Amino acid sequence: MRLRDIPSTTQLGLVVSVLLFSMAVACQSSKSVDPTPEPPPTGGGIQYQTTPVTLRKPANFPDVVYDLSKNPLTVEGVALGKTLFYDPLLSRDTTISCGFCHQQFAGFGHSDHPLSHGIGGKFGTRNVPGLDNLAWGREFFWDGGVTSLDELPISPIQNPVEMDLKFSEALYRVQKNPRYPALFKAAFGSDTVTTARFLKAVSQFLLTMVSADSRYDKYVRKEAGGNLNPDELAGLTIFQQKCATCHATDLFTDRTYRNNGLPVGAINDQGRYTITLNEADRLKFRVPSLRNVEKTFPYMHDGRFTTLDQVLNHYTKGVKDSPTLDPALKVSEQLGIALTDTEKKQVIAFLKTLTDDTFITNRALSAN
Ligand code: HEC
Ligand code: HEC
Repeated sequence: MRLRDIPSTTQLGLVVSVLLFSMAVACQSSKSVDPTPEPPPTGGGIQYQTTPVTLRKPANFPDVVYDLSKNPLTVEGVALGKTLFYDPLLSRDTTISCGFCHQQFAGFGHSDHPLSHGIGGKFGTRNVPGLDNLAWGREFFWDGGVTSLDELPISPIQNPVEMDLKFSEALYRVQKNPRYPALFKAAFGSDTVTTARFLKAVSQFLLTMVSADSRYDKYVRKEAGGNLNPDELAGLTIFQQKCATCHATDLFTDRTYRNNGLPVGAINDQGRYTITLNEADRLKFRVPSLRNVEKTFPYMHDGRFTTLDQVLNHYTKGVKDSPTLDPALKVSEQLGIALTDTEKKQVIAFLKTLTDDTFITNRALSAN
């Protein structure tokens, strides 16, 4: 679905398409929350007005993947989603919100933490990825274990080392909390909290996290402020030759799963294999976006590298051979990517042009 196809009129029909999945969840949910699907639209009789939001599709991006026709963005839906994203009420002890781990100044990653840490200071097993351009994503998490953005929040909310709250309880708390009835009413026409509404609203907010105004973007789009210095330009050329097979397009990921030769870490995370149980997927992880990479440290699925220098050193001399190593990292029996020290510096200079200050300071995305 392309952006220009989004109906621009007030949406009433959006509430109808309750996902089968959400219904399954709703069926298990607490009795005090109404799990019944939305009534069908009556055709006329619109009782509430929402203001449509057009998701921005930057000129240098591919087509949006998320089906916006099933969940058209509205000012009211995004506002509700943002409130939920920053609300620690959604964790068992009311200390951890989504935004606790996904920090805007760190490109919505968790600065300085190799592994995510959540409720009670408990550690997870993976590095918090930055969030950007989620409307272009088909599968999520380092291993692609979540196949729909609309289902994603259930995972961190219920995860015992993240927010540790039954999703039904989260819905119940939201229903009982005085700040929400007006927000739900504005977004969906009544103050009833349903699984589908909750998830759609969070998705709407996540979808607005479009990062496309780095100096590099301006350079590509020939906009004011898009100047790259000679080192950065040299870095861009090297990047295109040696990194862009995987970190492809201006999303900086082809969103496939690859083994980039990291030695198996202490946690022995087998990556994509844990989802597919296919031997060929062992040690493969989703190629991450490199947007705001200067800010999203530490790096890799387990946060093992703190600096971009360490990342580049991995590619030049740390790549470990294994049956699933990506062929791009073993050309003519040569492991890794050959780069001189100058070239490494140039690549790093280029990577820093992907920092999008507009995005990481955008008040529309911040807690308040
Ligand atoms: C305790 C820290 C923590 C909290 C709280 C948390 N997340 Fe995350 N988030 C993570 C980690 C770690 C991953 C990667 C999980 C994996 O790959 O297995 C992740 C992945 C994601 C992704 C996928 C990104 C991608 O590109 O694949 C999205 C979207 C996301 N989280 C949104 C949320 C939302 C919405 C909430 C609140 C409902 C939330 N997160 C709460 C740590 C957290
Ligand atoms: C064969 C595909 C492939 C190539 C080529 C490749 N990468 Fe990666 N890159 C990956 C994968 C896969 C990961 C995630 C690995 C993991 O966490 O297990 C990754 C992770 C990274 C990260 C960490 C990002 C983060 O948020 O944690 C950086 C930075 C990076 N690559 C930069 C580069 C640069 C620079 C080059 C070229 C010199 C390059 N990559 C070449 C596949 C590739």
